[in-house]
Amino acid sequence: MDFPTFFIETLGCQMNEQDSLRMRHRLAQAGYRPASRPEEADVLIVNTCSIRQKAEDKAYSVLGRYRLIKKSRPGCLIAVAGCLAQQKGEALLERVPDLDLVFGPRRVIEVDRLLEECRQRPGTLVAPSRSAGGPDELDCPGVTDETGLKAYVTIMEGCDNGCSYCIVPRVRGRKRSRPHRSIREEALQLVSRGVREITVLGQNVTAYRCPEDEHFAFPELLNMLCRIDGLERLRFTTSHPKDTGPELIECFGRLAPLCEHVHLPLQSGSDRMLRAMRRGYTLEEYLETIRALRDRVPEIAVTSDIIVGFPGEEEKDFEDTLEAIRAIRFDNLFSFKFSPRPGTRASLLARPLPESEKARRLEILQDAQRAISLSKNRRLEQTEVEVLVEGRSRSGDQWTGRTRTNKIVNFAGPVGLFGSMRPVTIVHGGPNSLLGRL
Ligand code: 5AD
Ligand code: SF4
Repeated sequence: MDFPTFFIETLGCQMNEQDSLRMRHRLAQAGYRPASRPEEADVLIVNTCSIRQKAEDKAYSVLGRYRLIKKSRPGCLIAVAGCLAQQKGEALLERVPDLDLVFGPRRVIEVDRLLEECRQRPGTLVAPSRSAGGPDELDCPGVTDETGLKAYVTIMEGCDNGCSYCIVPRVRGRKRSRPHRSIREEALQLVSRGVREITVLGQNVTAYRCPEDEHFAFPELLNMLCRIDGLERLRFTTSHPKDTGPELIECFGRLAPLCEHVHLPLQSGSDRMLRAMRRGYTLEEYLETIRALRDRVPEIAVTSDIIVGFPGEEEKDFEDTLEAIRAIRFDNLFSFKFSPRPGTRASLLARPLPESEKARRLEILQDAQRAISLSKNRRLEQTEVEVLVEGRSRSGDQWTGRTRTNKIVNFAGPVGLFGSMRPVTIVHGGPNSLLGRL
């Protein structure tokens, strides 16, 4: 008998990427085979995101395509996983009636069992929350990316911060940290299987606190992981500026595997907006953190997130943001138009901005950042960087990899470099990547 095939489309952040890797692993263990195209799959899964309306719309468009496929492939199953599934549950069926399975992020490791249950019974199976006595989704065997060189390790889930715009606490729940012993075991196992780089993952990793030892916080965790023999690179995402204290900053430059990169979402350069967003810091406090990081490790790369067009954002607030990003000079910036999310405080605020105004501000911000990223990358020309060679470049004629500061480098070289750590001289800095010479 032929084993059933599956196809997963992943939307959203690294948490979802990791959940999809885990689903792939589970399904492969249960005898499923990956299909290279959705048209050839017996099980179609979309792992959804609900952070902004755009992400939600993307999920519906993928599902529209899946429904057409299902019409020509009787017996094919459609499953919706992830944050939108968690947020909407049953209500998804109003818009997409022929779904077979809807399940939340806490149940990804049960995907094979849920599909089996789905086949046994008529109608749609909706399984948003974790079943009582079901497996703990935080405690799981490690999975790597397709290269086998890199892996994510989830150390916490959920968030207690309550930023006024954010739907994450509603879909991923309250903060839950994983015991440090279980994290270490997973990391050890991954490194013994040849993983060179680990990214520690969570909605707010800097708020990590071991449930079995309250004195064991995020800096202790970094120290613990950096003692693992054979782990060459350690990264983490995402952090919160208010939890980025001196103990954490001091880890940079001291722990050899800890890479010189931090993603520290600023969200706005206006204190008035930061207050309305309930971020818990002022611009000056944020700048102080950046100064401390750069004092510690001058070459550290800092990336960030910005939301433009938050309700009540005046031209002056937006200009404060522009001024802040020009002063800070982030290596890279992810910027978004504010999107009102159901159930959040910000969705109820007066004075929403028109889409056209949000779009205008976004474009100005992105233009400003493009110039900054380019000039920062240009300044790397003629310097030597260490690259972990991860595979062939998109065009296929070069090698590609990343620096410790998380920048993409493409360079020509002989066969057999895959998986090695190489010194590369930067010959050209572009806006999104670097060109190097071995
Ligand atoms: N609208 C726009 N952007 C948002 N983000 C989170 N919620 C919203 C929203 N409602 C952005 C923040 C966050 C990133 C992951 O997504 O900048 O850091
Ligand atoms: Fe999207 Fe947030 Fe869910 Fe990630 S955790 S998939 S960003 S809603």
